[in-house]
Amino acid sequence: MRGYAGKAEMSAEAHPVVAVLGGGQLGRMLVQAGQRIGVDCRLYVPGPETVTSGAAPAISAAWDDEDALRCLADGATVATWEVEHVPLGTVAFLSRLVQVYPAASVLVNVQDRMLQKGLFDCLGLPTAPWMAPDDLESCREAAARFGLPLVAKARLGGYDGRGQRILRCDADVVEAWNQRGPYGFILERFVSFTDECSIVSVHGQDGEIRHWPVVENRHHDGILTTTLAPHPAWSPGLQARAEAIASTLLRKLNYVGVMAVELFRNGEVLVINEVAPRVHNSGHWTIEGARCSQFENHLRAILGRPLGETAAQGYAAMVNCLGTMPDAHHTEDLGVHRHDYRHQPRTGRKVGHLTVVGATVAERDARLAVLQQRLAAITV
Ligand SMILES: Nc1ncnc2c1ncn2[C@@H]1O[C@H](COP(=O)(O)OP(=O)(O)OP(=O)(O)O)[C@@H](O)[C@H]1O
Ligand SMILES: [Mg+2]
Repeated sequence: MRGYAGKAEMSAEAHPVVAVLGGGQLGRMLVQAGQRIGVDCRLYVPGPETVTSGAAPAISAAWDDEDALRCLADGATVATWEVEHVPLGTVAFLSRLVQVYPAASVLVNVQDRMLQKGLFDCLGLPTAPWMAPDDLESCREAAARFGLPLVAKARLGGYDGRGQRILRCDADVVEAWNQRGPYGFILERFVSFTDECSIVSVHGQDGEIRHWPVVENRHHDGILTTTLAPHPAWSPGLQARAEAIASTLLRKLNYVGVMAVELFRNGEVLVINEVAPRVHNSGHWTIEGARCSQFENHLRAILGRPLGETAAQGYAAMVNCLGTMPDAHHTEDLGVHRHDYRHQPRTGRKVGHLTVVGATVAERDARLAVLQQRLAAITV
Protein backbone atom coordinates (compact mmCIF):
# COMPACT_ATOMS: atom_id res chain seq x y z
CA MET A 1 0.00 0.00 0.00
CA ARG A 2 1.22 3.49 -0.83
CA GLY A 3 -0.41 6.77 0.09
CA TYR A 4 -1.95 8.62 2.94
CA ALA A 5 -1.55 7.27 6.45
CA GLY A 6 -5.00 7.63 7.98
CA LYS A 7 -7.15 10.03 9.91
CA ALA A 8 -4.20 12.21 10.90
CA GLU A 9 -3.94 13.45 7.32
CA MET A 10 -7.62 14.20 6.96
CA SER A 11 -8.60 17.82 6.71
CA ALA A 12 -11.00 19.52 9.13
CA GLU A 13 -13.32 16.96 10.68
CA ALA A 14 -16.29 19.19 9.99
CA HIS A 15 -16.25 18.11 6.36
CA PRO A 16 -17.88 14.85 5.38
CA VAL A 17 -15.40 12.44 3.83
CA VAL A 18 -16.30 10.39 0.78
CA ALA A 19 -14.16 7.34 0.05
CA VAL A 20 -13.99 6.62 -3.68
CA LEU A 21 -12.96 3.28 -5.16
CA GLY A 22 -10.96 4.17 -8.28
CA GLY A 23 -8.71 7.09 -9.10
CA GLY A 24 -9.34 7.96 -12.75
CA GLN A 25 -10.76 11.10 -14.25
CA LEU A 26 -14.21 10.49 -12.79
CA GLY A 27 -12.67 10.38 -9.31
CA ARG A 28 -10.80 13.57 -10.09
CA MET A 29 -14.02 15.35 -11.08
CA LEU A 30 -15.77 14.06 -7.93
CA VAL A 31 -12.92 15.57 -5.90
CA GLN A 32 -13.34 18.90 -7.67
CA ALA A 33 -17.12 18.90 -7.14
CA GLY A 34 -16.58 18.08 -3.47
CA GLN A 35 -14.26 21.04 -3.07
CA ARG A 36 -17.07 23.33 -4.20
CA ILE A 37 -19.55 22.02 -1.62
CA GLY A 38 -17.30 21.34 1.37
CA VAL A 39 -16.93 17.59 0.90
CA ASP A 40 -13.53 15.90 1.09
CA CYS A 41 -12.93 12.91 -1.17
CA ARG A 42 -10.35 10.24 -0.55
CA LEU A 43 -9.39 8.01 -3.47
CA TYR A 44 -8.37 4.38 -3.75
CA VAL A 45 -6.19 3.89 -6.78
CA PRO A 46 -5.70 0.28 -7.82
CA GLY A 47 -2.92 0.79 -10.38
CA PRO A 48 0.58 2.24 -10.18
CA GLU A 49 -0.50 5.38 -12.01
CA THR A 50 -2.67 8.03 -10.44
CA VAL A 51 -4.12 10.95 -12.37
CA THR A 52 -5.46 12.41 -9.20
CA SER A 53 -2.19 12.87 -7.34
CA GLY A 54 -2.24 16.14 -5.48
CA ALA A 55 -5.98 16.54 -6.03
CA ALA A 56 -6.95 14.59 -2.90
CA PRO A 57 -5.51 12.11 -0.42
CA ALA A 58 -5.04 8.84 -2.28
CA ILE A 59 -4.24 5.29 -1.31
CA SER A 60 -2.56 3.18 -3.93
CA ALA A 61 -3.07 -0.52 -3.27
CA ALA A 62 -4.43 -3.73 -4.76
CA TRP A 63 -8.20 -4.26 -4.77
CA ASP A 64 -7.83 -7.10 -2.26
CA ASP A 65 -5.56 -5.29 0.21
CA GLU A 66 -7.74 -5.42 3.33
CA ASP A 67 -5.47 -3.18 5.42
CA ALA A 68 -5.58 -0.52 2.73
CA LEU A 69 -9.39 -0.81 2.48
CA ARG A 70 -9.64 -0.41 6.27
CA CYS A 71 -7.53 2.71 5.96
CA LEU A 72 -9.82 3.99 3.19
CA ALA A 73 -12.90 3.46 5.36
CA ASP A 74 -11.36 4.88 8.54
CA GLY A 75 -13.32 8.04 9.37
CA ALA A 76 -15.14 8.08 6.01
CA THR A 77 -18.80 9.18 6.04
CA VAL A 78 -19.75 7.11 3.03
CA ALA A 79 -18.04 5.24 0.17
CA THR A 80 -18.73 4.99 -3.54
CA TRP A 81 -16.99 3.88 -6.75
CA GLU A 82 -16.06 5.71 -9.93
CA VAL A 83 -15.44 2.55 -11.95
CA GLU A 84 -17.72 -0.49 -12.17
CA HIS A 85 -14.91 -2.98 -12.68
CA VAL A 86 -14.20 -3.26 -8.97
CA PRO A 87 -14.16 -6.85 -7.70
CA LEU A 88 -17.41 -7.64 -5.88
CA GLY A 89 -15.37 -8.96 -2.95
CA THR A 90 -13.76 -5.53 -2.52
CA VAL A 91 -17.13 -3.76 -2.39
CA ALA A 92 -18.55 -6.42 -0.05
CA PHE A 93 -15.57 -6.04 2.31
CA LEU A 94 -15.79 -2.24 2.26
CA SER A 95 -19.56 -2.42 2.91
CA ARG A 96 -18.87 -4.06 6.25
CA LEU A 97 -16.77 -1.05 7.28
CA VAL A 98 -18.74 1.90 5.89
CA GLN A 99 -22.02 2.57 4.06
CA VAL A 100 -21.43 2.17 0.32
CA TYR A 101 -23.69 3.89 -2.22
CA PRO A 102 -24.78 2.63 -4.66
CA ALA A 103 -25.01 -0.61 -2.67
CA ALA A 104 -22.97 -3.69 -3.60
CA SER A 105 -26.18 -5.35 -4.85
CA VAL A 106 -26.23 -2.84 -7.75
CA LEU A 107 -22.86 -4.09 -8.95
CA VAL A 108 -24.02 -7.69 -8.55
CA ASN A 109 -26.88 -6.93 -10.93
CA VAL A 110 -25.12 -4.87 -13.58
CA GLN A 111 -21.40 -5.64 -13.63
CA ASP A 112 -21.91 -8.80 -15.67
CA ARG A 113 -23.49 -7.91 -19.02
CA MET A 114 -25.45 -11.16 -18.99
CA LEU A 115 -27.15 -10.28 -15.70
CA GLN A 116 -27.66 -6.68 -16.82
CA LYS A 117 -29.42 -7.77 -20.02
CA GLY A 118 -31.45 -10.27 -18.01
CA LEU A 119 -32.55 -7.42 -15.73
CA PHE A 120 -33.80 -5.37 -18.71
CA ASP A 121 -35.79 -8.37 -19.98
CA CYS A 122 -37.16 -9.07 -16.53
CA LEU A 123 -38.38 -5.48 -16.21
CA GLY A 124 -39.84 -5.46 -19.73
CA LEU A 125 -37.43 -2.71 -20.80
CA PRO A 126 -36.53 -2.48 -24.49
CA THR A 127 -33.09 -3.88 -25.38
CA ALA A 128 -31.55 -5.72 -28.34
CA PRO A 129 -32.29 -9.47 -28.30
CA TRP A 130 -29.33 -11.41 -26.93
CA MET A 131 -28.11 -14.72 -25.65
CA ALA A 132 -25.20 -16.06 -23.62
CA PRO A 133 -23.72 -18.97 -25.60
CA ASP A 134 -22.39 -22.13 -23.92
CA ASP A 135 -20.76 -23.59 -27.02
CA LEU A 136 -20.12 -22.98 -30.69
CA GLU A 137 -23.47 -24.49 -31.63
CA SER A 138 -25.35 -21.94 -29.54
CA CYS A 139 -23.29 -19.15 -31.15
CA ARG A 140 -24.48 -20.39 -34.54
CA GLU A 141 -28.00 -20.60 -33.21
CA ALA A 142 -27.79 -16.91 -32.20
CA ALA A 143 -26.53 -16.05 -35.71
CA ALA A 144 -29.48 -17.92 -37.24
CA ARG A 145 -31.99 -16.36 -34.85
CA PHE A 146 -30.79 -12.73 -34.84
CA GLY A 147 -29.04 -12.63 -38.23
CA LEU A 148 -25.57 -11.34 -39.08
CA PRO A 149 -23.86 -9.11 -38.21
CA LEU A 150 -23.95 -9.91 -34.52
CA VAL A 151 -22.19 -8.08 -31.73
CA ALA A 152 -20.13 -10.16 -29.29
CA LYS A 153 -19.51 -8.40 -25.97
CA ALA A 154 -17.35 -9.66 -23.11
CA ARG A 155 -19.49 -10.28 -20.06
CA LEU A 156 -17.03 -8.54 -17.75
CA GLY A 157 -14.47 -5.78 -18.00
CA GLY A 158 -15.31 -4.07 -21.33
CA TYR A 159 -15.04 -0.31 -21.80
CA ASP A 160 -14.65 2.12 -24.70
CA GLY A 161 -15.65 -0.66 -27.08
CA ARG A 162 -12.90 -2.98 -25.80
CA GLY A 163 -13.95 -6.56 -25.35
CA GLN A 164 -16.34 -6.25 -28.31
CA ARG A 165 -16.32 -7.47 -31.86
CA ILE A 166 -18.73 -7.49 -34.76
CA LEU A 167 -19.29 -10.92 -36.28
CA ARG A 168 -20.09 -10.73 -40.00
CA CYS A 169 -19.75 -14.35 -41.13
CA ASP A 170 -19.51 -17.89 -39.77
CA ALA A 171 -15.69 -17.68 -39.63
CA ASP A 172 -16.03 -14.65 -37.30
CA VAL A 173 -18.45 -16.60 -35.12
CA VAL A 174 -15.99 -19.51 -34.84
CA GLU A 175 -13.11 -17.13 -34.09
CA ALA A 176 -15.10 -15.29 -31.40
CA TRP A 177 -15.92 -18.58 -29.70
CA ASN A 178 -12.33 -19.85 -29.89
CA GLN A 179 -10.91 -16.59 -28.56
CA ARG A 180 -13.47 -16.08 -25.80
CA GLY A 181 -12.02 -14.71 -22.60
CA PRO A 182 -12.22 -16.38 -19.19
CA TYR A 183 -15.71 -15.05 -18.42
CA GLY A 184 -17.30 -15.59 -21.83
CA PHE A 185 -19.45 -13.18 -23.81
CA ILE A 186 -22.96 -12.41 -24.85
CA LEU A 187 -24.18 -12.19 -28.42
CA GLU A 188 -26.47 -9.33 -29.28
CA ARG A 189 -28.44 -8.38 -32.38
CA PHE A 190 -26.81 -5.55 -34.33
CA VAL A 191 -29.12 -2.56 -33.85
CA SER A 192 -29.62 -0.08 -36.65
CA PHE A 193 -30.22 3.35 -35.18
CA THR A 194 -30.38 6.95 -36.28
CA ASP A 195 -28.26 8.07 -33.36
CA GLU A 196 -27.10 7.24 -29.87
CA CYS A 197 -28.18 9.08 -26.79
CA SER A 198 -28.10 8.72 -23.04
CA ILE A 199 -29.88 9.86 -19.95
CA VAL A 200 -28.04 10.59 -16.73
CA SER A 201 -30.19 10.47 -13.61
CA VAL A 202 -29.77 10.74 -9.88
CA HIS A 203 -31.66 8.97 -7.09
CA GLY A 204 -31.52 10.45 -3.60
CA GLN A 205 -31.68 8.51 -0.35
CA ASP A 206 -35.20 9.84 0.19
CA GLY A 207 -36.38 8.39 -3.14
CA GLU A 208 -36.31 11.62 -5.11
CA ILE A 209 -35.28 11.14 -8.74
CA ARG A 210 -33.99 13.85 -11.05
CA HIS A 211 -32.94 13.52 -14.66
CA TRP A 212 -30.72 15.70 -16.83
CA PRO A 213 -31.90 16.24 -20.41
CA VAL A 214 -31.36 13.35 -22.83
CA VAL A 215 -28.18 14.04 -24.81
CA GLU A 216 -26.90 12.95 -28.20
CA ASN A 217 -23.65 10.99 -28.18
CA ARG A 218 -21.38 10.59 -31.19
CA HIS A 219 -18.89 7.75 -31.22
CA HIS A 220 -15.88 6.76 -33.28
CA ASP A 221 -14.61 3.17 -33.14
CA GLY A 222 -16.80 2.47 -30.10
CA ILE A 223 -15.41 5.49 -28.16
CA LEU A 224 -17.50 8.51 -27.23
CA THR A 225 -16.14 11.57 -29.03
CA THR A 226 -18.84 14.25 -28.68
CA THR A 227 -21.92 14.90 -26.55
CA LEU A 228 -24.55 17.49 -27.50
CA ALA A 229 -26.80 18.65 -24.69
CA PRO A 230 -29.64 19.20 -24.91
CA HIS A 231 -30.77 18.19 -28.39
CA PRO A 232 -33.04 20.90 -29.82
CA ALA A 233 -35.16 18.65 -32.02
CA TRP A 234 -36.00 15.86 -29.60
CA SER A 235 -39.54 15.70 -28.32
CA PRO A 236 -40.71 15.86 -24.70
CA GLY A 237 -42.11 12.36 -25.32
CA LEU A 238 -38.62 11.02 -25.96
CA GLN A 239 -37.37 12.63 -22.75
CA ALA A 240 -40.31 11.11 -20.87
CA ARG A 241 -39.63 7.62 -22.24
CA ALA A 242 -35.94 7.84 -21.33
CA GLU A 243 -36.87 9.07 -17.84
CA ALA A 244 -39.31 6.19 -17.40
CA ILE A 245 -36.60 3.66 -18.31
CA ALA A 246 -34.09 5.23 -15.93
CA SER A 247 -36.61 5.55 -13.09
CA THR A 248 -37.64 1.90 -13.42
CA LEU A 249 -34.02 0.82 -13.09
CA LEU A 250 -33.20 3.21 -10.24
CA ARG A 251 -36.18 2.00 -8.22
CA LYS A 252 -35.69 -1.68 -8.95
CA LEU A 253 -32.02 -1.49 -7.97
CA ASN A 254 -32.67 0.60 -4.83
CA TYR A 255 -30.06 2.83 -6.32
CA VAL A 256 -28.54 5.82 -4.54
CA GLY A 257 -26.38 8.16 -6.62
CA VAL A 258 -25.91 8.95 -10.31
CA MET A 259 -26.55 6.37 -13.02
CA ALA A 260 -26.41 6.62 -16.82
CA VAL A 261 -28.44 4.68 -19.38
CA GLU A 262 -26.98 4.51 -22.90
CA LEU A 263 -29.65 4.26 -25.57
CA PHE A 264 -30.05 3.74 -29.31
CA ARG A 265 -32.64 6.02 -30.91
CA ASN A 266 -34.73 5.42 -33.97
CA GLY A 267 -37.10 8.35 -34.28
CA GLU A 268 -39.26 8.14 -31.18
CA VAL A 269 -38.17 4.58 -30.34
CA LEU A 270 -35.52 3.97 -27.70
CA VAL A 271 -33.60 0.73 -27.15
CA ILE A 272 -31.28 0.34 -24.16
CA ASN A 273 -27.65 -0.38 -24.95
CA GLU A 274 -26.30 -0.56 -21.42
CA VAL A 275 -26.33 0.92 -17.96
CA ALA A 276 -23.34 2.56 -16.30
CA PRO A 277 -23.72 2.46 -12.49
CA ARG A 278 -21.72 5.64 -11.91
CA VAL A 279 -21.11 9.16 -13.14
CA HIS A 280 -20.67 9.00 -16.89
CA ASN A 281 -18.69 10.58 -19.72
CA SER A 282 -21.90 11.73 -21.42
CA GLY A 283 -22.67 13.77 -18.29
CA HIS A 284 -19.44 15.80 -18.25
CA TRP A 285 -21.23 18.69 -19.98
CA THR A 286 -23.25 19.19 -16.78
CA ILE A 287 -20.20 20.78 -15.07
CA GLU A 288 -20.70 23.99 -17.04
CA GLY A 289 -23.96 23.30 -18.88
CA ALA A 290 -26.40 22.45 -16.06
CA ARG A 291 -27.50 24.07 -12.80
CA CYS A 292 -25.96 21.21 -10.82
CA SER A 293 -23.36 18.82 -12.23
CA GLN A 294 -23.60 15.03 -12.15
CA PHE A 295 -20.56 14.98 -9.86
CA GLU A 296 -22.06 17.34 -7.27
CA ASN A 297 -25.40 15.55 -7.36
CA HIS A 298 -23.74 12.16 -6.92
CA LEU A 299 -22.06 13.45 -3.75
CA ARG A 300 -25.31 15.06 -2.61
CA ALA A 301 -27.25 11.83 -3.13
CA ILE A 302 -24.82 9.53 -1.33
CA LEU A 303 -24.50 11.97 1.57
CA GLY A 304 -28.28 12.24 1.93
CA ARG A 305 -28.34 15.93 1.01
CA PRO A 306 -31.07 17.58 -1.07
CA LEU A 307 -30.44 17.14 -4.78
CA GLY A 308 -29.46 20.05 -7.02
CA GLU A 309 -31.39 21.15 -10.08
CA THR A 310 -30.68 19.21 -13.25
CA ALA A 311 -31.96 21.76 -15.79
CA ALA A 312 -29.60 22.77 -18.59
CA GLN A 313 -28.19 26.29 -18.69
CA GLY A 314 -27.87 27.08 -22.36
CA TYR A 315 -26.67 24.53 -24.89
CA ALA A 316 -23.47 22.59 -24.35
CA ALA A 317 -21.17 20.41 -26.43
CA MET A 318 -18.50 18.23 -24.87
CA VAL A 319 -15.60 16.93 -26.94
CA ASN A 320 -13.36 14.17 -25.64
CA CYS A 321 -9.61 14.54 -26.17
CA LEU A 322 -8.27 11.16 -27.19
CA GLY A 323 -4.59 10.24 -27.13
CA THR A 324 -3.09 13.64 -26.30
CA MET A 325 -4.36 16.90 -24.86
CA PRO A 326 -4.21 19.83 -27.31
CA ASP A 327 -2.11 22.75 -26.08
CA ALA A 328 -4.30 25.36 -24.41
CA HIS A 329 -3.23 28.13 -26.80
CA HIS A 330 -5.02 26.37 -29.69
CA THR A 331 -8.40 26.88 -28.09
CA GLU A 332 -8.15 29.53 -25.41
CA ASP A 333 -9.71 32.30 -27.51
CA LEU A 334 -12.87 30.19 -27.98
CA GLY A 335 -14.21 30.35 -24.44
CA VAL A 336 -13.64 26.62 -24.07
CA HIS A 337 -13.79 24.95 -20.65
CA ARG A 338 -10.71 22.75 -20.55
CA HIS A 339 -10.44 19.62 -18.41
CA ASP A 340 -7.01 18.01 -18.51
CA TYR A 341 -7.00 14.68 -16.68
CA ARG A 342 -3.17 14.69 -16.58
CA HIS A 343 -3.02 11.19 -18.02
CA GLN A 344 0.04 9.90 -19.80
CA PRO A 345 -0.68 10.26 -23.54
CA ARG A 346 -1.68 6.95 -25.17
CA THR A 347 -3.41 6.26 -28.46
CA GLY A 348 -7.19 6.26 -28.05
CA ARG A 349 -7.07 7.04 -24.32
CA LYS A 350 -9.41 9.69 -22.92
CA VAL A 351 -6.94 12.28 -21.61
CA GLY A 352 -9.27 15.22 -21.17
CA HIS A 353 -12.35 16.96 -22.48
CA LEU A 354 -13.39 20.37 -23.74
CA THR A 355 -16.82 21.91 -23.27
CA VAL A 356 -18.38 24.85 -25.08
CA VAL A 357 -21.67 26.40 -24.01
CA GLY A 358 -23.85 28.73 -26.09
CA ALA A 359 -26.92 30.71 -25.16
CA THR A 360 -28.65 29.32 -28.27
CA VAL A 361 -28.30 26.15 -30.31
CA ALA A 362 -26.88 28.17 -33.20
CA GLU A 363 -24.22 29.71 -30.96
CA ARG A 364 -23.29 26.32 -29.48
CA ASP A 365 -23.07 24.71 -32.92
CA ALA A 366 -20.97 27.54 -34.32
CA ARG A 367 -18.51 27.29 -31.42
CA LEU A 368 -18.37 23.52 -31.74
CA ALA A 369 -17.66 23.78 -35.48
CA VAL A 370 -14.74 26.16 -34.91
CA LEU A 371 -13.42 23.98 -32.08
CA GLN A 372 -13.56 20.86 -34.24
CA GLN A 373 -11.79 22.64 -37.09
CA ARG A 374 -9.01 23.71 -34.76
CA LEU A 375 -8.64 20.20 -33.32
CA ALA A 376 -8.57 18.67 -36.81
CA ALA A 377 -5.88 21.16 -37.86
CA ILE A 378 -3.71 20.19 -34.86
CA THR A 379 -3.93 16.46 -35.54
CA VAL A 380 -3.23 16.71 -39.30
N1 LIG B 1 -26.00 -4.13 -30.54
C1 LIG B 1 -25.34 -3.12 -31.11
N2 LIG B 1 -25.65 -2.73 -32.37
C2 LIG B 1 -24.97 -1.72 -32.97
N3 LIG B 1 -23.96 -1.03 -32.41
C3 LIG B 1 -23.62 -1.36 -31.15
C4 LIG B 1 -24.28 -2.42 -30.43
N4 LIG B 1 -23.74 -2.49 -29.21
C5 LIG B 1 -22.78 -1.55 -29.15
N5 LIG B 1 -22.69 -0.86 -30.31
C6 LIG B 1 -21.76 0.27 -30.60
O1 LIG B 1 -20.57 0.13 -29.83
C7 LIG B 1 -20.44 1.20 -28.87
C8 LIG B 1 -19.83 0.69 -27.58
O2 LIG B 1 -20.71 -0.31 -27.07
P1 LIG B 1 -20.96 -0.48 -25.51
O3 LIG B 1 -21.46 0.80 -24.98
O4 LIG B 1 -21.79 -1.68 -25.30
O5 LIG B 1 -19.48 -0.80 -25.05
P2 LIG B 1 -18.56 -0.34 -23.89
O6 LIG B 1 -17.25 -0.98 -24.15
O7 LIG B 1 -19.24 -0.59 -22.62
O8 LIG B 1 -18.37 1.19 -24.11
P3 LIG B 1 -18.36 2.34 -23.02
O9 LIG B 1 -17.88 1.78 -21.74
O10 LIG B 1 -17.43 3.34 -23.60
O11 LIG B 1 -19.77 2.84 -22.97
C9 LIG B 1 -21.86 1.72 -28.72
O12 LIG B 1 -21.86 3.04 -28.22
C10 LIG B 1 -22.37 1.60 -30.15
O13 LIG B 1 -21.84 2.62 -30.96
MG1 LIG C 1 -21.26 2.08 -23.73
